[in-house]
Amino acid sequence: MTDLVKVRDLSVTYPRPRRSGGPLHAVRGVDLTMRRGETVGLVGESGSGKSTIGSALLGLVPAADGTITFDGADITRASRADRRLLARRMQVVFQDPYGSMNPAHTVADTLAESLRYNLALPAEEIQKRVLRALDDVGLPPGAARRYPAAFSGGQRQRIAIARALVMEPDFIVCDEAVSALDLSVQAQVLNLLARLKETRGLSYLFISHDLAVVRYLSDSIVVLYAGRVVERGPAARVAESPAHPYTRALLAAAPVPDPVVQLGRRTERLRAVAAVAATPARPGTGCDFAARCPFAQEICRTTRPELVDREDGVAVACHRYDQITAQAA
Ligand SMILES: Nc1ncnc2c1ncn2[C@@H]1O[C@H](COP(=O)(O)OP(=O)(O)OP(=O)(O)O)[C@@H](O)[C@H]1O
Ligand SMILES: [Mg+2]
Repeated sequence: MTDLVKVRDLSVTYPRPRRSGGPLHAVRGVDLTMRRGETVGLVGESGSGKSTIGSALLGLVPAADGTITFDGADITRASRADRRLLARRMQVVFQDPYGSMNPAHTVADTLAESLRYNLALPAEEIQKRVLRALDDVGLPPGAARRYPAAFSGGQRQRIAIARALVMEPDFIVCDEAVSALDLSVQAQVLNLLARLKETRGLSYLFISHDLAVVRYLSDSIVVLYAGRVVERGPAARVAESPAHPYTRALLAAAPVPDPVVQLGRRTERLRAVAAVAATPARPGTGCDFAARCPFAQEICRTTRPELVDREDGVAVACHRYDQITAQAA
């Protein structure tokens, strides 16, 4: 069976004035493979390049290098017309759906918009799809006549999911789709996404800075640091016994119920971030994480570690992998 999404050696750069160091390398040499029906979680701190990878898949930013294949077809440089066809199959749900909804449009119009634009379906079929999508996300048919402002944050996120569903896609990029919600609402929306995955046979690229949230939905997890993959593997393995020092730090940064422990971790994290801010990256030399890494040795500062396949389907880019795992065992 062909992979649904295959990203090979993807790099994305953003233009920047020369005085601030030339183009920004937001994503560097990323590989990513998704089978049909699989959910891949993409985790990493702010600025690590998560959204940029999602945007590149959706054709919103160009790839500077590498290839993106969708269901066997190379879509790296898909034309505008091809992108319209692809919109039937690839959709996106963002963190702040209100920002992408016209407050003057009813929910029905909001959902129908891309159906009209991309598919030119008859009104009857559009109506049918809109009601089905609302039902699928647990909203009553009456929601169709109301305006986005009439809904809570969680309900608006359901509308955003319904807007993706009307296209009947097989792949959805969820970019921080639950990050702005309260914990209990977050859980409801995660459950909804899990259920839709089964009933509609969806695959998600599930993007979040929160390892626990990513773990909940994902079959496998890809950890990004400074635009590169530092660890990748089965979700349980990566989230519960992370190998890369950065993934370990992410796990340590996850909220814990004890406020004292929480404060300690937060302080530790802030200290680490401050250390990086004080240490300018020297592109092309060593491991990007070396300045923050408690295990770093000379080689880490001079030679970039390759992403190497280890046991249990895990790949880790770390010179100190053997010592760290021996120590943990
Ligand atoms: N449109 C843009 N123009 C210029 N630089 C950008 C643009 N979008 C992102 N960047 C930069 O690219 C890098 C990666 O950004 P990206 O938004 O992909 O990170 P992210 O992991 O999604 O972060 P967050 O968790 O904050 O959403 C960052 O340094 C960011 O400032
Ligand atoms: Mg982002």
